[in-house]
Amino acid sequence: MHLPNPAPFPQNRPRRLRRDAFTRNLLRENAVTPHDLIYPVFVHEGRGRREAVASMPGVDRLSLDLLLPVAEDCVRLGIPVLALFPAIDPACKTPDGSEAQNPDGLIPRALRALKKEFPDLGVMSDVALDPYTSHGQDGLLDASGYIVNDDTVVCLIGQALAHAEAGADIVAPSDMMDGRIGAIRKALEERGHIHTRIMAYSAKYASAFYGPFRDAVGTRGALGGADKNAYQMDPGNGDEALREVASDIAEGADMVLIKPGMPYLDIVRRVKDAFHLPTFAYQVSGEYAMIKAAAANGWLEHDAVVLESLLAFKRAGADGVLTYFARDAARLLGK
Ligand code: PBG
Repeated sequence: MHLPNPAPFPQNRPRRLRRDAFTRNLLRENAVTPHDLIYPVFVHEGRGRREAVASMPGVDRLSLDLLLPVAEDCVRLGIPVLALFPAIDPACKTPDGSEAQNPDGLIPRALRALKKEFPDLGVMSDVALDPYTSHGQDGLLDASGYIVNDDTVVCLIGQALAHAEAGADIVAPSDMMDGRIGAIRKALEERGHIHTRIMAYSAKYASAFYGPFRDAVGTRGALGGADKNAYQMDPGNGDEALREVASDIAEGADMVLIKPGMPYLDIVRRVKDAFHLPTFAYQVSGEYAMIKAAAANGWLEHDAVVLESLLAFKRAGADGVLTYFARDAARLLGK
């Protein structure tokens, strides 16, 4: 039965602009390209050594010889930057994480090898002590177990300089100590590293989404259930992220990062709107693991969800995304 239409026609027909692919393609406001992606990789010692990370299907820890073909793949796919994270031999971990400042440590060697083979590929290195400390915290502990700030910053300066000297294009302090961006910037300038960029993890939350990463770098066991709530941000806070970003910019950050990603897209949007600075988000290990697990169960369509999740970052205002899906996504986007 055909009921009479009470109105002569809808006032508005937004569906006109969704009717065909050409219209949708013409009008789409945001897009992801491989140039928006930064690929995080886990490195460890040895030769020909590849170890799967159980909680991150498709992600391996690689020795430096196996890292080079991955870097080559990133160049081929148009991924502009690779981000290095170390899984340090437990024998090299100490309470003060001094291995982090070793100019011939794993990360400086990885940086030199990458810059030699692929000078045009950007390389970013993480500046934080947690992979190097026996207790898994991002700083030095005092007798009460408090993570001390200023002495930790001195260590971070040493680490950042070791990375810059080995050729890091971008150093990325991910530790959340106060004042470390200004201190690192000053040290870089004094040593003539005027081109080294700083991507500040400005708004890094004390998140439960980092679990699989801690498996990958081997800090979960070291932490033994301890949390990082006394330095990483409380997930309930939004205004505080803006204050953190403002001080990192004043201290000399070139780019800022929000982490985790998908659960914090409101922060990405607020930061971008407030500061108009290159703004990045980290789709962290737990976000990766969720999508992988759902896809493995046949509950979500992997490729479509990956691309939609990355598009959401762009729509929220991110200039780019650190994501373990970078190579998968770049491959899909190239098709
Ligand atoms: C610590 C660090 C963490 C991540 C990167 N650097 C987490 C932590 O606080 O233990 C997490 C990245 C991810 O989950 O993918 N400096």
